[in-house]
Amino acid sequence: MADETHGYSRVPVQRPTLWIAALSLLVLAAACGGDFPQSSLRPQSDVARSIDDLFRGIFWLALGVFVVVEGALLVAIVRFRERPGAERPKPVHGNTVLEVAWTIVPAVILIFIGVPTMLTLWRIDRPPQGEALRVEVVGHQWWWEFNYPDLGITTANELHVPVGHTVDLRLRSDDVVHSFWVPRLAGKRDLVPGRENQLWFTVDSAGVYPGQCAEFCGIAHALMRVRVIAEEPDVFERWAELQSRDAVEEPGEEALVETGRSIFFGAGGCISCHTIRGTPAAGVLGPDLTHVGSRSTIGAGVLRNTPANMALWVKDPHDVKPGNLMLNMGLSDEQTRDVAAYLGSLR
Ligand code: CUA
Repeated sequence: MADETHGYSRVPVQRPTLWIAALSLLVLAAACGGDFPQSSLRPQSDVARSIDDLFRGIFWLALGVFVVVEGALLVAIVRFRERPGAERPKPVHGNTVLEVAWTIVPAVILIFIGVPTMLTLWRIDRPPQGEALRVEVVGHQWWWEFNYPDLGITTANELHVPVGHTVDLRLRSDDVVHSFWVPRLAGKRDLVPGRENQLWFTVDSAGVYPGQCAEFCGIAHALMRVRVIAEEPDVFERWAELQSRDAVEEPGEEALVETGRSIFFGAGGCISCHTIRGTPAAGVLGPDLTHVGSRSTIGAGVLRNTPANMALWVKDPHDVKPGNLMLNMGLSDEQTRDVAAYLGSLR
């Protein structure tokens, strides 16, 4: 006996449609928001713009494919749906025209994707000829070391660059694989032990561009942030001039600084891991602290650099940043306050 409905039953449009509509609206609304400092959709360098142009080209192409394919699917669903008295479509086998078409069309689409992709890859592979500011980037668990070999600068976690000047980064790792990622300036580039990678960009305008490590590198991976601070060339030069000097203590709370300094070089044991140029501190395990007071954050972007936060950090680095390799030296509250005052004076 033939079953007239072939097992299908007709479901009237009901609540589920409402739910789906509400959910879609919610998903759409989630895209609205304010300022996204790490949005790669707002490129601010030549390299990021090349990648963005490629992305947008492919996006519109993909949207065209989506509309055609989903449109055909919808037409098929609506036109050939089961209806009382409707004529059944006949099954067919083979159609040379269709088969040739759906082989050639995707091949042509792939050419329109492949050629611009290769051209972009070649364009952003090596920096353009000319003077580029060379910076060595070393990944550590869980902070960034920046060396400017031509300027005699070593700093950490905040990469200062001049606007409109190409920066040529050479990236390597001191331990495990990390990935340098500042979305508005360039794509991700891995820092691989035993190997040097290259990344370059020319920043369009002054500003602070946040980024982060983009390769899981251990327990504090999520707290391995980086900031690129792009400045007008004259501001950058002033910064570079100050940073290339040996440590200078800024006048302020001399009494605290005095005690803090003696703890730093004595009981604190800080000098076994940190360097302060112009002093006997020459440790290389932790960040260079010669001008730590001039940085805007501490702990690779975990805290704003204020005396209170610096004291928190020195008191218990693991509480602020779990997994952190910095040792808890068991200092008292007064001692941490003094060490923080000393570090803060290093401008
Ligand atoms: Cu370094 Cu993740």
